[in-house]
Amino acid sequence: MVRMQKAWLAVLAVVVTGAVGVAALPSTAIAEVQCNGTTKPCPLQKWMRDNAGTPMASGDLAAIVKGIEKIQTFGGPDMKDWTKLAKKTVDDLKANKTDDVKADCKACHDAYKAAYKANAALRKRPIP
Ligand code: HEC
Repeated sequence: MVRMQKAWLAVLAVVVTGAVGVAALPSTAIAEVQCNGTTKPCPLQKWMRDNAGTPMASGDLAAIVKGIEKIQTFGGPDMKDWTKLAKKTVDDLKANKTDDVKADCKACHDAYKAAYKANAALRKRPIP
């Protein structure tokens, strides 16, 4: 009888740890959804800081080209001119036109930053 109880405890332990493992997955996803735009940046915001803001500050235009090329299709139907704006940014980056690049960054921010921040579906959209 004692042996039976021990076996049950072992089964129970496996079931419980298994359940904890699965439960841990969605909470990571939830953490991303619950970004707040400041201390918990949203996916695109964090991406922009790391792949556009930081290399821009150090003048590494080639690194930004690679990054912006990757997010060219991020906009979708909610941000219709996204791809066009991204392509212009890439063209000016490749041509080393720093002032035009700055204007390109601003053009897209003026067009879509507010829309992105106000749209929960966009805010949780992962970077391609
Ligand atoms: C095709 C559109 C687009 C282009 C081009 C673009 N951005 Fe962004 N960027 C955005 C959007 C939308 C956000 C808003 C995300 C947020 O802050 O929540 C953003 C946010 C940022 C942030 C984060 C700001 C914050 O509050 O944390 C930085 C830094 C940034 N961009 C730098 C740049 C730089 C530098 C360039 C030019 C080399 C650039 N971006 C080009 C769309 C773009």
